[in-house]
Amino acid sequence: MELTINGKSHPVPPLWQEESLLFFIREQLGLTGTKFGCGAGLCGACTVLLDGQAQRSCVLPVAQASGHEIRTIEGLAEPSGKLHPVQQAWITEAVPQCGYCQAGQIMSTVALLSEHRQPTQEQIDAALAGNLCRCGTQKRIRAAVTRAAGVQS
Ligand code: FES
Ligand code: FES
Repeated sequence: MELTINGKSHPVPPLWQEESLLFFIREQLGLTGTKFGCGAGLCGACTVLLDGQAQRSCVLPVAQASGHEIRTIEGLAEPSGKLHPVQQAWITEAVPQCGYCQAGQIMSTVALLSEHRQPTQEQIDAALAGNLCRCGTQKRIRAAVTRAAGVQS
């Protein structure tokens, strides 16, 4: 079994095939930008893209991720180092506080903007409802989403 993550193929040793995608990404590949929060699909900290859709990696077994294109926060920037417009908007709006939830927030936003280039407030609320932030950055997140949508249009 192999997983395609950020454009690269990774063999999955047999012992890892029943693990969650989150643990494989973090522990086996060392891609620690994707965070462990609740481990139960409730907080969004572990959000990655699966074929472009936001996916909670803590509740997805590795075996079910095989055959899909997986993208993590480490795979958003271009090879040149140029940041993704959503990452740049996050910096411009100085969104994070502790930062723990932010990779998940950014990945959910990338998925949202790939589906809706100019999302309504309702679409933003729906896309980010499952991404919790204990630091209260929601207002700046909304500003960054709006900014990124403008850049991408
Ligand atoms: S760690 Fe996956 S949703 Fe909370
Ligand atoms: S920035 Fe701290 S949890 Fe969101």
